[in-house]
Amino acid sequence: MAERAKVVMTAMLPGAARRVLEAEHEVVAPAAGTMSHADLAAAVGDADGLVCLLRDPVDAALLARAPRLKVVANYAVGFNNVDLAAATARGVVVTNTPDVLTDATADLTFALLLAAARRVPEGDAMVRAGAFHGWEPELLLGADVYGRTLGIAGLGRIGRAVARRARGFDMRVLYSDPAPAPAEVERELGATRVGKDELLGSCDFLTLHCPLTPATHHYLGAAELARMSAGAYLVNTARGPLVDEEALAAALAAGRLAGAALDVFEREPAVHPGLLASPRVVLAPHAGSATVAARRRMAELCVGSVMDVLAGRRPRHVVNPEVYR
Ligand code: GLV
Ligand code: GLV
Repeated sequence: MAERAKVVMTAMLPGAARRVLEAEHEVVAPAAGTMSHADLAAAVGDADGLVCLLRDPVDAALLARAPRLKVVANYAVGFNNVDLAAATARGVVVTNTPDVLTDATADLTFALLLAAARRVPEGDAMVRAGAFHGWEPELLLGADVYGRTLGIAGLGRIGRAVARRARGFDMRVLYSDPAPAPAEVERELGATRVGKDELLGSCDFLTLHCPLTPATHHYLGAAELARMSAGAYLVNTARGPLVDEEALAAALAAGRLAGAALDVFEREPAVHPGLLASPRVVLAPHAGSATVAARRRMAELCVGSVMDVLAGRRPRHVVNPEVYR
């Protein structure tokens, strides 16, 4: 059995994660809520493992404070919060939690798309406020979803799961991705690959599923938003900085876009005031993977990754495989 090591967890995770880790290792975790960055910086000094959240920047400075660290298990599929090059240079294995949250995130993507198109939050607020005075021919009219065109930026696991749902709505599915999907995947999804400009110009709904990297930062800025049709909607359940929020708020205010549904924000947890003020925007608190089952399985993956590395095994979901070379 591996020697008892010290593992820092920046939040209490759902399920038995902590108990399972504690059976073999010493665990340092906040009793409730999340660990501040200052507390994390203090705690990693003699840590062998770290389980962290997407809100925890694991940068070169933090890694430099953790000379014993062998593994960073990020409780998310996205890992833009981790400086991979710095981790790899120090021999630190970085893992993520793909697959187990794909369907949960695709479900929320569709929930938000429908909510924006059919103005669900506005209707809810209206009824609660006592402002529903009876059926009217033009009360809260929205946009059709069925049979319209869905543009998917990034046809990875989540993008594909969204495309599968779109088939049930008889949508035409276009996608843009640096790498074409295999022909059988395109066939199964009924998805056609187009260039980014065509994607922007052709879709009624645009949904973002690309990873956040320097190349995808502000994937959607003023110029890109200007290519979209004035009747189109944007859905973002990926990462906030893919979108220039200032440009999005301006486009919505000018009526150059019909609406947006956002689960993620450029400066999370802050939200651009222009988006907060817009009735055309549906907002969610970064909840894509927030189902009981998905979050529990993400916790199991993180715990498994840490136990694997500390026992000398290679975990399943390593995002910096070059660390093994
Ligand atoms: C959530 O945003 C994730 O990347 O898992
Ligand atoms: C994430 O799991 C993705 O590939 O979209």
